[in-house]
This record gives sequence, structure tokens and C-alpha cells, in this order.
Amino acid sequence: GIGVFQTPKYRLTQMGTKTSLECEQKLNHDNMYWYKQDSKKLLKAMFHYNNKELVGNETVPSRFSPESPDKAHLNLYIDSLEPGDSAVYFCASS
Ligand SMILES: *[C@@H]1O[C@H](CO)[C@@H](O)[C@H](O)[C@H]1NC(C)=O
Repeated sequence: GIGVFQTPKYRLTQMGTKTSLECEQKLNHDNMYWYKQDSKKLLKAMFHYNNKELVGNETVPSRFSPESPDKAHLNLYIDSLEPGDSAVYFCASS
């Protein structure tokens, strides 16, 4: 929604490499989330942070490392990219 900014909007990269997705919210919310929408359009929860602390991890593989330097940012680093990682990733806050 308005006030949540994801960068980049699109990324095309090679299997086996690593990448990062950045998210910032300017809503002064305490909670931030990453969701993955797969090729079947199913939206799956990945990570939930509350005030920089990880409070929810829907058993996401350890290749995915989230980092929350402050409560307004939640970045996602993905190592050793696999075909199944090709998806739409949504960041949200509340
Ligand atoms: C999330 O859970 C999975 C499965 O328990 C674990 O392998 C992974 O390291 C966890 N990720 C984080 C960021 O804690």
C-alpha cells in the first residue's frame, strides 16, 4: 500500500546467484512482513518482524535471510537462487 516502498520493482537474475529485496515503510508501523506469491497466485507468509525482532518464520529455507536494521526496514537476502524462487514478493506493514 501507500507508504511501503519495495526496491527493486523487478529483478531478472541467474540461478545460483544471490540477490536482495529491500523494503521500507514510512507509516511508523511496528510490524513488517514479506509474502511470496507463487506461480499459482497463492500468497504465502514468509517472515514477520515486530520492532526489528523476528516473530514469524513460516519455515522459509535458510537461503532466505531477512534483516531488519530498524523497524522501518525489512530486507530480504536470497542465496543460491533456485527456479522456485521466481515469484512476486510483497512487503507489507501494520
Ligand atoms: C526459518 O525457519 C527455517 C526452518 O525452521 C530455518 O531453517 C531458517 O533458518 C529460519 N530462518 C530464520 C531467518 O530464522
